[in-house]
Amino acid sequence: MNANSMSRLLGASLLGLGLCAVALAADSMPMRKSIDLPSSNRVFPGDSAGAKAANSYCLMCHSYGMVATQPTLTKAAWLVEVRKMKGAFKAPIPADQVQVIADYIAQLKGAH
Ligand code: HEC
Repeated sequence: MNANSMSRLLGASLLGLGLCAVALAADSMPMRKSIDLPSSNRVFPGDSAGAKAANSYCLMCHSYGMVATQPTLTKAAWLVEVRKMKGAFKAPIPADQVQVIADYIAQLKGAH
């Protein structure tokens, strides 16, 4: 083995090590803020208080997709809907989150 092929070999293994280090670093970075679900349309989008509340208190019974495909309702109608989930279906939604969720879903779906 001459000096030239030796240094190429060394270069290749250093590159390999470098890639490993990058992969490891990416894996251990604290970037995840929420649960890891395989499909992107299963959770309510966004980082707002409303998105967090909806993800906490709606997904235990149905998917985001199920809510997203409902007809467009007004805020007031979503409030009735979320209250119904809490009252009739016993969704464990804290009282102070009902309005937050209704407002969030209404703006998400473009109603006012
Ligand atoms: C404890 C279980 C449970 C939770 C939690 C829950 N729901 Fe429901 N939801 C139901 C049931 C049961 C139905 C009625 C399904 C049916 O009629 O087939 C329903 C129906 C719905 C419907 C369809 C329209 C209707 O009135 O039937 C919408 C929209 C809805 N839920 C939205 C939500 C939202 C938004 C949340 C979070 C705030 C939520 N649900 C939380 C159980 C739940």
